[in-house]
Amino acid sequence: MRFPAEPFRIKVVEPLRRVSREEREAHIGRAGLNIFSVPADSIYVDLLTDSGTSAMSDNQWAGLMVGDESYAGSKNYYHFVEAVHDIFGYPHVIPTHQGRMAENLLFTTLLKKGDVVPNNIHFDTTRANVEAQQAEALDLVVDEGLDPTVDLPFKGNLDPAKLDRVLTEYGRERVPVVMLTVTNNSGGGQPVSIANVKAVREVCDRHGVPLFFDACRFAENCWFIKQREPGYADRSVIDIAREMFSYGDGCTMSAKKDGLVNIGGFLAMKDAEWAERITNLLILVEGFPTYGGLAGRDLEAIARGLREVLDEDYLAFRTGQVAHLGEMIEEAGVPIVKPVGGHAVYIDAKRMLPHIPQSQFPGQALVVALYRDYGIRAVEVGSLMFGHKDPKTGKDVYPQLELVRLAVPRRVYTTEHMRYVADSVIDLYRHRDRLSGLRITHEAPVLRHFTARLEEIVRGDAPAPTGTPRIEPSATR
Ligand code: F0G
Repeated sequence: MRFPAEPFRIKVVEPLRRVSREEREAHIGRAGLNIFSVPADSIYVDLLTDSGTSAMSDNQWAGLMVGDESYAGSKNYYHFVEAVHDIFGYPHVIPTHQGRMAENLLFTTLLKKGDVVPNNIHFDTTRANVEAQQAEALDLVVDEGLDPTVDLPFKGNLDPAKLDRVLTEYGRERVPVVMLTVTNNSGGGQPVSIANVKAVREVCDRHGVPLFFDACRFAENCWFIKQREPGYADRSVIDIAREMFSYGDGCTMSAKKDGLVNIGGFLAMKDAEWAERITNLLILVEGFPTYGGLAGRDLEAIARGLREVLDEDYLAFRTGQVAHLGEMIEEAGVPIVKPVGGHAVYIDAKRMLPHIPQSQFPGQALVVALYRDYGIRAVEVGSLMFGHKDPKTGKDVYPQLELVRLAVPRRVYTTEHMRYVADSVIDLYRHRDRLSGLRITHEAPVLRHFTARLEEIVRGDAPAPTGTPRIEPSATR
C-alpha cells in the first residue's frame, strides 16, 4: 500500500449528479469560460479549492448542537480561545468570519501608505489587503521556491538574506510586520522548516520587526516538518506547532483550511495594544469580540476542528492522498510542480501544452477542458490570474509560472475519486495535440479569477466587463 487508507468511515452521503458533456459545454459557454461561474452541481469532482470545503466530523456536527448563541460570552467562545491558546500560544484571540478579514483588520491597523510587508509569497487576498493600504507586498521566497522542477523538502522557506536586505533598506519604520505563510499556497503548497522560521526570527529581532504567521495550513506544514526536518521525527505534530508559533508574535488564520470548518477564522497575537486597536475595529465592521462574525456553534466547530486536524493518522492520510494523486499523474508523464504540496497538485501547463503560447492561456484551456470533458473543476494560476498590461509600454506581461491547481478538499473525496481525476488528466495529456488555446482578451475581465479582479477593484482601476468571448470549437477535443 502506498499510503494509509482513510482513517474514517462514511456516515452521511452527499449524492453527486453526473451531467452530460453537452450540458457542461453550455454552462461554461454561458459563463464566458469563467470556471467560478458554472453551477457547482454540474461538477463531478470539485477541486477548485480546499478552502471551506472540508467535511466536518460527527464530533464537529455534535458541537453545532451545543452552540450557545448568547450575544456575549458564549461558552463556545471560551472553548475556541482555549484551543487557540493551547496550540498557538498567543494570549489575545480575535475571531473573524474568515481569513481575509483577519488580514484586513491587521493591515488596516498596522500599515500606513508607503509601508512594506515581506512574506515568502503573499496569497492573493493578503497582497490585496496590503495594497489596499497603499503599502507594498514583497515576495521573498527562496529562489528554488519558484522553480517547479527542483525537488527539495522546504521550498516554502523565506530567504533570510533577502529579508535582511529589505529590512536594512526600509527599517522598522516602514516595515511594521513580516509575514510567513505556512504552507506557502501561492508557491505550490510548499512547507517552511523550523530552521527557516528561526533564521527569519533572528533577522526580525536584529531589526526589531515583529513576525506573524499566515497559519491557514499550519498542521500540514508541521506534518512535513515531522517527516522531513532532522530532529523532528519523534516529536508530536502539536508539539512542533507550539514550537513554530513560539518564534512568532502572532498569526492570521483562515479556519476554512486547517480548522476543518466551512467558515471561520481568527487573529491571535502577543501585543495587547495592537489587540485592543484591532478589537475596536472588529466591533465596527465584524461583530462583538466574543463572536466576531461567527455564530457560537461555528466557534465550537473550529475549536474541535483545530484539535482534529493535528491527528497524525489524519495528516498521514491527508498528505498521502494528495501526494498519491500527484504520483499517478506524474507517472504518465504529466509535468507537475515538485514536490507535491500539502493541499494540492499543481500541473505545469506551460510544459504540458508547449504548443499553446501564454497569450492563448494554456492553463485556462486545460481548466475548461477538464470541466467540459470530465466534470472536474480546477483553477488556473497563470496568465489569466496574473497576466496584465504594462501600464508604461502597453504590452501584455505574462507570469513566469503557468499552473493549474487541483486542490483536494479535506476528508471529502475517496481515493477512487482521485483515480478518476488522474485518469482524466492523463487522458487529456494523451490527446493534448487536440487542445488549442483560448481566445480570451484582456478586454474581458469578467474572465479573470475573482481575486485578481478584487485587486483591481481595490486599486480602483477595474475596467468594465465587455462582451462574452466565444468558445472556439477546437478549444478542446
Ligand atoms: N492566506 C492563504 C495562504 C490562503 O490560502 C487563503 C485562502 C487566505 C489567506 C484567505 O482566507 O479565504 O478564509 O479569506 N485561500 C483560498 C484558496 C481561497 O483557494 O487557496 P479566506
